[in-house]
Order: sequence, then C-alpha cells, then structure tokens
Amino acid sequence: MCGIIGYTGYSQALPILLDGLSKLEYRGYDSAGISVFSKDQTHTTYRSAGKLHELKRLTERSKATGVSGLGHTRWATHGEANTINAHPHSDTYGNLSVVHNGIVENYLDLKQELTNKGHLFNSDTDSETIPHLIEHYMKNGASFEEATEKGASRIKGANAVVVMCNDQPDKIVAFRTGNAGGVIIGYGTNEMLVASDIPAILGYTNTISHLLPGELAILEPNSVEFKDRDGNSIEKEKTVLANDPISLAKGDYRHFMLKEICEQPNAIIASLMGRLSSEEGLFSSDDLNLTVKEIKKISKIMLAGMGTSLHAAMLARLWMERIAGIPSEWDNSSEFRYREPILDKNSLFISVSQSGETADTLAAMEEVKSKNISQITLCNYLNTQASRIADQTLQIRAGLEVGVAATKTFTCSLVTLYALAIYFGLQKETIEKNEAAKLIEELTRLPEMIGKILTNQSQYQKLASIYHNSSDFLFLGRGYNYPVALEGALKLKEVSYIHAEGYPAGEMKHGPISLIDESMPVVAMIPKDALYEKMLNTVNEAKSRGAIVIAIASESDDEIEQKVDHVIRVPDVSDSLSPIVNSVPLQLISYYFAVRRGCDVDQPRNLAKSVTVE
Ligand code: M6R
Repeated sequence: MCGIIGYTGYSQALPILLDGLSKLEYRGYDSAGISVFSKDQTHTTYRSAGKLHELKRLTERSKATGVSGLGHTRWATHGEANTINAHPHSDTYGNLSVVHNGIVENYLDLKQELTNKGHLFNSDTDSETIPHLIEHYMKNGASFEEATEKGASRIKGANAVVVMCNDQPDKIVAFRTGNAGGVIIGYGTNEMLVASDIPAILGYTNTISHLLPGELAILEPNSVEFKDRDGNSIEKEKTVLANDPISLAKGDYRHFMLKEICEQPNAIIASLMGRLSSEEGLFSSDDLNLTVKEIKKISKIMLAGMGTSLHAAMLARLWMERIAGIPSEWDNSSEFRYREPILDKNSLFISVSQSGETADTLAAMEEVKSKNISQITLCNYLNTQASRIADQTLQIRAGLEVGVAATKTFTCSLVTLYALAIYFGLQKETIEKNEAAKLIEELTRLPEMIGKILTNQSQYQKLASIYHNSSDFLFLGRGYNYPVALEGALKLKEVSYIHAEGYPAGEMKHGPISLIDESMPVVAMIPKDALYEKMLNTVNEAKSRGAIVIAIASESDDEIEQKVDHVIRVPDVSDSLSPIVNSVPLQLISYYFAVRRGCDVDQPRNLAKSVTVE
C-alpha cells in the first residue's frame, strides 16, 4: 500500500527521492515525507498531509542538500492521515529516520514497553515503534545495523521497513518481516537504491534483487550486504529487468485511467502474443509448464482474487467449466483462507492478482502451498511476491497500470484465462480442434472490436451529463455478464463515489426490484445470447416501475432501441467473449461520470493500487 524509496550515492538525493515518490504515489496518497541526510551527521525531514504536490511545495521552500535519504507515500492504517502521522518517523532524539509499509501487529505492547523506558512518541502510528525500538538497542550498545536486526526480530506481522541513521549517513538498512509489499534493491553505478516497487528506480538502474520475508539488506553507495533471518550473510541473485515499454507519462490523456482504457487493444495483443500460435496448444512450455498428463489429471480448479481480480476469477470459472469441462469454484482470497475448502491432490489453484502483492491473495496462496496443491498465479509482472509462492506465473503483460482503477489489467487477465481454458480444453479433449480454432480466431479479433468501442466516447460524456447527480445505480447481467455487472458497479463506486450494485438479473424479483424508481439508472448487459429474452423480461419489469435503462447491446439488435432509454452498441460477439467486450463501455461510463463529478479519477479517495495489508 505505502510507497517506499531510499537512495545512497553521490548525487543530490532530494530530487531522486521526489521523482521516486511520484512514481509510487499510486500506492498511497494520504500523506508523504522525505528525510535527506548530510555528511555532517544530521538530517532534514519534510512531511506533509495530502498528496505529493504538497510535499514538493514544502521542499521547494528550503532545499535540503545531501547525497542519501529516504521517502514515503502513505496509505493510512493506524492514525489519521495528517502531518504528524506522515512518515518518516524518528526516535526520541531524532537520530533515526524510518519509513514503513505494513502493520506492526504488536505495536501496542511495544509502545507500552518503550514508553515505560522513557521513549517519547509523537504520532498515533504503529510505525513509530520501529525507530524507538532501534534506538533502545543502540542505547544498550548495539551498532546501527545490529540494533535494526534486533528491532526487526521483535516486530510481529508483515512489514517492509527502511531505516537510516545520522551516525552513518551513507548507510541504509532495509528489512522485511512477512509478506507486506515488496522491497527491491536497485544496483546503480556508484549508487544504490531501495524501493517498494520497480517503477521508482527504473530511471537509475534495471538490475535488481528482491528481499524476501525475514531478510535484511545493508546498502552503501558501492556495496550491499544481505542477511537471512538468523543474521547470516547471504548471496542474492540479481535480476536484469527487460526493457519494458513502461511509460509513466499521460501523454495527451487527461488521466491515466483513460489512457489505460484506450491502451487495451495493444495490451491484449501483448497478452496473447505467442499464446495463440501453437498447433497443439497455445502456451509454450517456458510460459506454462504443465504436461498433458498433468492437465488431464486436474480434478477441480479453485480460483481466487480480490476486487476486480476476483471478477476475473468468477468469469474464468465459467470458461473452465464450459470450455475445459473442469469443475471449478471461485472465492474471495480473504474468505478462502478462513474456510476449509475441499481440495484434493489433483486440484489446481489459480490466483489472480495484477500486482502480485495483495496481502489476502498471498495469504490464500500460502494456505494452498501448505497443502501441497499445485498453483498458478496470474500477475502483470514476473518476479512478484505471488510468483515466489506459486509454482508458476502466467504474466498478463498489460504494461504498467498507474490508475488505481484496474482496467487494462482486468481485460488482460481475462484474455489470458480464456486462452488457458481453451488450452486445457484441447489437452483434456473436451473441445474439438475446429471449435477451439473458432474461439481462437475470434479472440484475435478482440483488439479490433475493443478499438471500435473506444471510437465513440461522446455518448458516455452525454450520459454523464444527464445522470451524474444520480446517487444510486444498478448493473444487471446474466451468465457471463453477471461478473461484468459486479465489475461495472465496483468501477463506478470506486472512481465516481456513486453507490452502485451489481446483480444477476434473475435475482431482481427476489428483493432488489423494490429499489427501483425513476431516480435509479439501470445499466443492463443485453447481448444477443441464449439469455437475451430473459434479460429483456427483467428490463421490462424495471421499466414498468419507472427505471431509466441504459442497455449495452449488440450492433445487430434492432429491437432494443424501443425497449430502453439509451443504447450503447458493442460488436456482435460469441457468448463466451461478450463479457470482455462489455466491460469496456462500463469502464468508460465510470470514467466519464467521475470526470463529470470532478472526482480524482486516478487516485480515488481512501484507496491504493496494491492492498498489501489484510
Ligand atoms: O493487484 P490485485 O489485482 O491483486 O488487486 C486486487 C484489488 O485490490 C483490485 O482489483 C481493486 O479492486 C481495484 N482497484 C479495482 O479497480
């Protein structure tokens, strides 16, 4: 959730830290702060509530000089989002500076213990216990590194921490306890960086190492030493990042969300690249390493994710059952880990998490791992935390998504899961080769179909100008379009703060229809599929009760115009692909409503891009 950056080298640290934070702001934007250390063994800290531009304004007034430092952008868990609770936090005498992501689960006990020893606390955060704990050990004779190691061993929960000390201003100590967000060490030339996420350091290096839970790193401008949880020195593998066309620029777009919605045709092409060409089976063995025998043995698929990724998992269940003929189930990762799911040794667990960092999903994966059940994870990048738990990672290759609302990562997860279902179907022989060829051919036309949807955006602006003051929306769909209805409602809530619910249309008569009146717009997915007539019945029932209905309908549907108030056309497509096509107009509805309502589209209130705490 929070973003962390640290730098030690020979260049001025302040601009590097601010630049890093600007690339991490999507991880949290309640408040931000920076400490810059100087060779004379002092440091200057700037902290400010609100977004990063507030902090930038503050640093412009008096630019601290120094060639090392650390920074943080916060998503509040403990303590209000104000300046006092903003990171970095310090010890009683201001010798240390600490930035933290995660939750110190035993912070109340630690705070009590340290207060009893005379430590003075300023904030309401759990994070502030960390510098005080380190200070305590330093007072008792430990060196900065030793004290940090001792402190790390006392902290319970999943945490990522970066610490600096006045005594050794060019040294940074970073450590992880549990699965809270990543810690990436970047190797520059005569400089070292540490960050919670790759984009923050990409401008300085593409050679990195990942810190694992329990590990600690000591960085100096020309060296790094790694230690395991027992304090033994260890070697770590270096990874050279591929030249990813990551662009953090909005270009001509007003918001990242719109840019990312519009990037979907190309992102889907990247996702499917090399996955649709093979005669025998779509995925090459270095992409997905499952033998035909292993696939044939799969008795059940359990899918899990959170938020938008959960909706992708819900859709994948339908494809896995109908195309691959494999009994499948889905669950919220956060619910899954606390129930006792019945999975046998031939079950396959598939987690969906674009960030590969979502704490609940990681915990569900650990649970599955402890049962020795085979698992695949779908992430936007390789080498995520989820990749380290799963047996295999299927990269969805959407490219960096900065907007907090998941858009292109959703459709790229969907196409990857769809191709996977076809692949499994072919291996299990639940689908004929010619049938699979038809599905694949249609999949290759998806980018073009989405491109077409993206050409007419004025209709969404018009809808937003009419209905932006509505306080409630309903999204209805059936079959494949039920998870899309949930996704449409989530997106609208998330970016425009309009209350919205998604329902399977058949459920309406069992309660929700009582909500309907002329003030509640209903968005109905009505593709020309097997459930078309049934969807029309629901729409008629809603219209009879005064509802305003916005239909997402097939181009070839020439009856729909008379039955609803507004029609958004999408290309004619098979039942199984219609949810991917239909999700794009829903993204555009959310986007244009949010813009019309003056919302902060890319950084909606109270949210963060990766939810790294439970
Ligand atoms: O990184 P993940 O895919 O695991 O994230 C899961 C959810 O937090 C995420 O999809 C969230 O619901 C989005 N902000 C929705 O747009």
